[in-house]
Amino acid sequence: MRKKVVAGNWKMNNDLIMSNDLIKSIKLKLNKKIDTDVFISPSFPFLNEAIKHCKGSKIKVLAQNVNENKSGAYTGEVSLSMLKSIGIDSVMIGHSERREYFHETDEILLNKLSNSLDEEFKVFFCIGESLKDRENDLHFDVVEQQLKNTIFRINKINFKNLIIAYEPVWAIGTGLTASPDQAQEMHAFIRKIIAEKFGDDFSENISIIYGGSVKPNSASEIFGKNDVDGGLIGGASLNAEDFIEIVNSI
Ligand code: PGA
Repeated sequence: MRKKVVAGNWKMNNDLIMSNDLIKSIKLKLNKKIDTDVFISPSFPFLNEAIKHCKGSKIKVLAQNVNENKSGAYTGEVSLSMLKSIGIDSVMIGHSERREYFHETDEILLNKLSNSLDEEFKVFFCIGESLKDRENDLHFDVVEQQLKNTIFRINKINFKNLIIAYEPVWAIGTGLTASPDQAQEMHAFIRKIIAEKFGDDFSENISIIYGGSVKPNSASEIFGKNDVDGGLIGGASLNAEDFIEIVNSI
């Protein structure tokens, strides 16, 4: 059985008090017997406190980014060992905002991915096409190339340490969601090429989650699709009620 996963991507939102309050509300509302893996990802300055607040709950804490170098003269950056030292063992890599605004290439992302897996982090690896790609009917090619340039260049991966987040760029923060059929079609495609590369056991067990304007009213239909194993939630994860409703839609 594939693991169901819902992660809240808080991006550059919330200050310390807001971050702690949001965690408290999610904790209160979250069903303690839930089988889904639930993650939140506050900004770097609040991760340490978030870890403490989430202790004893089912909520796990995810870093939004990490630098590809081990340590050294990289002003403003955060390393894997720093994250590890505060108890973080999951990291998001390749979000389209990192690719677009911070010019993170597939090559940089491959380094981040490879180093994170070596350090036994769980990686949420994001892929997805732009609106132009989709309009030109290039969405499958673009996603396949993103996989070939990154995940497919790693020889040995345990499916437990990798979650693929399919996030069509045109659906992120725009209010436009991929239709459940569009999401299913792409997730099935990803699973198929993953099976060709890593085998059926790997592809049957890896969680592939969808991200892009998932809201309480759209979540259950998308999550109901066979190859959609959960969601990466941006805007709607900043509100505890909405986030919990989405978590409960699985
Ligand atoms: P959104 O963000 O839900 O606000 O579209 C999703 C994401 O960027 O992960």
